Amino acid sequence: MTISSLSRRGLFGLVGAALTAADGKRGMIVRSSRAEDLEMPLEGFLESYITPVERFFVRSHHYLPTVKAEDWKLKVEGKVSSALALSLDELKKMPRVELVSVLECAGNGRGLYEPSMPGLQWTYGSVGNGRWSGVRLADVLKRAGVQAGAIEVVFDGADVPVGTQPEFVRGIPFAKAMDPNTLLAYEMNGAALTRDHGFPLRVVAPGWAGDCWVKWLTRIEVRDKEFDGFFMKTGYRHPGKPVVPGVPVDPAQMKPVTTLRVKSVIASHLDKGEIGLGATKIRGAAWSHESPIASVEVSTDGGRKWAAARLGKDAHRFGWRQFEFDWTPGEAAYYSVMARARNAAGETQPFVQEWNPSGYSNNTVHTVRLNAVSAPGAAVSKPAEPAVEAPAAFKATCLGCHGEEAIAQQRLSRAQWEAEVGKMQRWGARVTPENKETLIEYLFKRYPYRAR
Ligand code: HEC
Repeated sequence: MTISSLSRRGLFGLVGAALTAADGKRGMIVRSSRAEDLEMPLEGFLESYITPVERFFVRSHHYLPTVKAEDWKLKVEGKVSSALALSLDELKKMPRVELVSVLECAGNGRGLYEPSMPGLQWTYGSVGNGRWSGVRLADVLKRAGVQAGAIEVVFDGADVPVGTQPEFVRGIPFAKAMDPNTLLAYEMNGAALTRDHGFPLRVVAPGWAGDCWVKWLTRIEVRDKEFDGFFMKTGYRHPGKPVVPGVPVDPAQMKPVTTLRVKSVIASHLDKGEIGLGATKIRGAAWSHESPIASVEVSTDGGRKWAAARLGKDAHRFGWRQFEFDWTPGEAAYYSVMARARNAAGETQPFVQEWNPSGYSNNTVHTVRLNAVSAPGAAVSKPAEPAVEAPAAFKATCLGCHGEEAIAQQRLSRAQWEAEVGKMQRWGARVTPENKETLIEYLFKRYPYRAR
């Protein structure tokens, strides 16, 4: 079954499982409504080369701020010879640069890891291809005059932390900050940034994961020592080597997430769907990091034979490439259709992804299983949700800072739920000793670990 032949409700039922409001924001998959986390549905890969702003995924660790351009200033401080406070008009007078780049959340594909781990259960669509305009970060830093010994540049935004969660502050190495392609953007797709995409200014770090594309930017600090705030020291870290699945790793032993990985997504057909026997097109998009996409190959027999897909004509160094592959199943059978991208550096996608504790950087070959039949009907049943009544303490304790979507998409063991409730206590949830067991018991029974 192709996407276009599915109703929107049917598509969400599959891709977003139980947590999606079918009438969710702008047809997006709602991973969290407050703070706002929205995933692009699969059809977004195909609709246009540049992802429209309203289709672009949104990831917000904190609540959205309201920033008035007149009151806003960008501070540049730290290891600089003259600290700056620049208005939007002053920035707009500096040389303007524009580039197309993929923006992908480091956690895109987290929801596909087994065993699963807590976190937003993104599947494929926390990625988009945008046109970004603004100034070079290097030009701003040169204007402030960087002092000797600078190793890192960190970014802080105006967003408002949820509960007692630490401020979202992320940094990049000084060399990446000085790269002429690293921007401070005030426009996305030719218009001022919208509120949920970081108005009035955000970082654009092409080829690097979304965590360093800080939004609502208010302060840049040039540092001669590594910043050790929560989102550098604990968040957005990857072991950098394969580890035993499901086993915790000390964040101190892990490395910050940096560049994206070469990846492709099949967006034209849904996994476990039914198709007819006639001609169809396997379509999708592929992207990489600082090395552009060189080819995409498609297999319709589980990876035994591969053939080149046609790449779309739109190409930018940091942008994605759309691809298309003509296929006629011909015979009634169960097909495993796969896509595999390769970049100019010769890197390609793994068939089996090494697990990591926070579920980052998933670029596994995307496999879509299709049942070809002469008269295709409807597809895909979804597992029933366990019927368990919520205790009174649940609403009072757990739904103050965020909605239930953040909770309902998890599939966790009892021990993981216990750890999750402990984390929420550290972030300000008032869990009383009497309620703690009741809550853990409910969460585990209602949202247990189960296979997808
Ligand atoms: C004081 C505010 C607050 C309360 C109350 C709260 N949470 Fe959270 N919760 C947070 C924050 C902060 C995040 C992370 C937001 C982000 O980084 O995107 C979060 C995220 C989550 C997530 C998503 C996975 C993750 O770890 O990021 C789950 C699941 C969750 N909370 C469960 C709960 C449960 C269960 C309760 C009740 C025991 C609860 N929350 C109560 C602040 C709170």
